[in-house]
Parts: sequence; C-alpha cells; structure tokens
Amino acid sequence: MLERYGHGGDLRTAEECFGLPSSSFLDYSSNMNPLGPPDAVREVLAQYTALIDRYPDPVARRLCTMLSQRHAIEEGAILIGNGAAELIDLVVRATRPEAAAVAVPCFSEYGDAIRKTGAALYEGPLYETEQFRLNKRWVEESLKRSNAKLYMVGSPNNPTGALIEPARVYELLDSGATVVVDEAFMDFVPEEERYSLVREAAQNRNLYVVRSMTKFYSIPGIRLGYIIGHPDSLAELSRLQVPWSVNSLAQSIGEAVLGDEAFAQASLRWLQEERPWLSRELEALGFRVYPGETNYLLLRLPDGCGLSSAELQRAMGAKGVLIRDGSHFPGLNGRYIRVAVKLREQNARLVDALRTSMSMSEQEGK
Ligand SMILES: Cc1ncc(COP(=O)(O)O)c(C=O)c1O
Repeated sequence: MLERYGHGGDLRTAEECFGLPSSSFLDYSSNMNPLGPPDAVREVLAQYTALIDRYPDPVARRLCTMLSQRHAIEEGAILIGNGAAELIDLVVRATRPEAAAVAVPCFSEYGDAIRKTGAALYEGPLYETEQFRLNKRWVEESLKRSNAKLYMVGSPNNPTGALIEPARVYELLDSGATVVVDEAFMDFVPEEERYSLVREAAQNRNLYVVRSMTKFYSIPGIRLGYIIGHPDSLAELSRLQVPWSVNSLAQSIGEAVLGDEAFAQASLRWLQEERPWLSRELEALGFRVYPGETNYLLLRLPDGCGLSSAELQRAMGAKGVLIRDGSHFPGLNGRYIRVAVKLREQNARLVDALRTSMSMSEQEGK
C-alpha cells in the first residue's frame, strides 16, 4: 500500500510496491508546485558548505522579518518550524485540549496530533452533497455535538481543495474554543487576501494559522513552515519546540525563495490555466471533479468504473504514475482518488494512464 506511512509522495514505498526505480515515477500522490524549486535554491546550495559548521539561528530572525513584511504582521506573531507538520503537533501539545474536532475528510496529521495527547476527537463529517464544504450546518452540528475546545481545519482543505469562509471560523471562535486553520496550500489561491486569516491570527489569542513553505516552493525534503498567532500564545509553543528545530539550510532557502515574486506570479498563472484544463479532461473520462482553488483535485470515480480506488492506484502504479487512494482519508471511501495538478505534458500522461487503466479493467470484465 502506497500510503503505508500515512502520506502520499513516498517514493521509496512506491519502489517496493511497484518494482520500478523511484526516479522513474510521475508522482501525482503529493502536491508540489511543478515550477519549483525556484532557481535561488540552487544558489543557496552552492554556497551552503560554508555554513554547515555553525549552529543555525535558533529563532530564524531573518526569515521571520521577511515573513512579517510579507504578511504585514509583527515578528513576534510568527514562529518558524520544521515543516507545517511540526507546528500542527506543537500547537495541539501547547493548547492541551480535553476535546478537539476536525472536519473529515482532512489531512490525517490533525487527528494523529490530537489523539497523541489523549484528547477526545470528534470527526465532523463534510458531505458529498454539499461538495465537502465546511458550512454553517457543519459549524452548528459540531458545536452541538463535540464539546471541542480546539478545532483544527484546513483552508484549502486537503483532500477536497475547498476554502473556508472566514465567517465560519469566527462562529467557531465565538464558542470560546481555540481554532487552528491550516493554510498549507493558501499560497496557491489567487484570492488569498479574502480567505487567509493570517492577520487576524496575529491579534487573537484563540486563533492560529499554520503555513507551509514546502508545497508552493516545492521543497518538501527541506522541511519548512510557520505558525502565526498572538505573540503571548506563541511563547508557549516556542517553549515546547525542540531547540534548533529549523536547520540553517532550511532558513537560507526560505529567505531566498520568499523574495522571488516572479516565481510566485508564474505559479499562479500556471495553475489558473492548468487546473481547468485537467478538470475538463478528467470530467470527459467520467470523473466527478470537486470544485476547489488549489493545486490538487479530489475526484470521484466514474459511475461505471469497476475498479476501487486501491485497484486503480495499483494499475496506475504499475504504469509508473502514483495517485492518492482516497479510502485512506477518514470520511471518504474506495470511490475517491486525489491527484495533483502538474505541467501540461505530465497532466496529459496522467489522463492517458487513467484512461488505459480503466479501459483495461473493462476489457477484463472487472
Ligand atoms: C494540509 C496539509 N497541511 C500540512 C502539511 C505538512 O506540510 P509540511 O511539508 O510543511 O510539513 C501537509 C502535507 O502534505 C498537508 O497536506
């Protein structure tokens, strides 16, 4: 099973499952920006040997300053981490809720981080009939049923791609609970200004926003993310963080890529063209494509498709194309897959591989 360790993008496991070299896979099971990493990363790497015999800045000051300018918030409202994953874990440990709630389907680390602390976990379902949107109904139902002191939600949500209206987050905050909004994929959203809660989080003791730099800048091997919160709330997170958690290479790369405005603009332009193209092609194959704003698509298998998501993943893997089996997300089942959006030539290869995998299964009378 490709998701043996809980995530997509696991090329080593893919090698073991499908018997092909890891470098040969076209990876649609994780969602990195195909335009990245920006050129600046190579320049940092070329000079990095000079930094390796020194400790990193324990609080990543240069990167913090750049991020504070980018988001127009004070530096004390930002804590840098070893990927968004570290900060998701840290914020749950720091807030120590007795009960917490998530909206399923969602990124599995929310539930894992909550369970690790022994807190009761409420998994409030998002409905297919509502296109998996976190709406007023979800808020009312969760407030009634969960008794949660912490809500952890994704905007855009993974795997659905759906954004959350800020009004829904305020409704959750009105209950007195703490809310963590994971905006790991927000850099891909053209309407970031309207949806992001970064500035509100910097001033509200009960609200945190988690951001990742690994997806948009395509540096998942480096591990880099940050959390925004009220400076008083971040002090407790910082106390619990492992010292030097963010190494100097990650800090230098973060500083270099943040300044690359041309890369950011090109990425938004690419996605605005490619996402609708890929969606149309997949719909033509009979998939149901859920609306979303980011660089991946949640798909429901065509009605007549005789394969389950796990079987389709296996058939695609054998062709060297990795897709995400939706059945591993709580709240979804074996009728769903998730694919990334990449460059046109790769997307065309994905569509071809899906077409042949499904037609082979028809011919075999599956
Ligand atoms: C929704 C979401 N949040 C956070 C993360 C973790 O990101 P990072 O690589 O910065 O740890 C992921 C990784 O897949 C994700 O999908």
